[in-house]
Amino acid sequence: MSAARRPFAPPEGFRLLPGRLAREEQDALLAEILDAARAAPFYRARMPRTGAQLSVAMTNCGALGWFCDVTGYRYEPRHPETGAPWPPIPARLLALWDEVTGHPAPPECCLVNLYRGAARMGLHRDGDEEAREAPVLSVSLGDTALFRIGGPTRGSPSGQVRLASGDVVVLAGAARHAFHGVDRVLEGTSRLVPGGGRINLTLRRVRAP
Ligand code: SIN
Ligand code: FE2
Repeated sequence: MSAARRPFAPPEGFRLLPGRLAREEQDALLAEILDAARAAPFYRARMPRTGAQLSVAMTNCGALGWFCDVTGYRYEPRHPETGAPWPPIPARLLALWDEVTGHPAPPECCLVNLYRGAARMGLHRDGDEEAREAPVLSVSLGDTALFRIGGPTRGSPSGQVRLASGDVVVLAGAARHAFHGVDRVLEGTSRLVPGGGRINLTLRRVRAP
């Protein structure tokens, strides 16, 4: 088969756990995340250089929150608008990290992305962490996303994976530094999130232990 016809194979270290969280677990987790978002409200971050607003609304839990503004991408210990420390990462997410990744050090950041309407996430790599070998764990809640996973360069072949509510993805090994993004979210495919849309939780270890 020519390269163009070969079915896309996700990079080594990419794991999809479909339906890892039962509906009751999704409800309980979502309630905790919405509580956290009352203390640390969603905000619209701006891209470095261009200053363009991301289409996704964001907030964080954990000791360090991922953040960007015109000056760059970085981790911050406080919410950019309230100045308060981020709420703690819910215990059930710390337990999920242990069970699924087996990584010895706990995650320090839970980035909470809210996708509504046409919100999407351009192709990128998670590269702002000192702990480069620790896996990334992602939990999908609400509407189904068309997630794109590629390889080590922006131009590497890529393929689409559907992420439904309760699905968990692990990016470890080669996949940890693979390009990925969200092409779009299929509006109305779930009724989990009040007001509609999708919430993605990304757990990361930031500092090298
Ligand atoms: C991200 O890569 O930051 C988000 C991925 C997702 O929403 O599934
Ligand atoms: Fe990412």
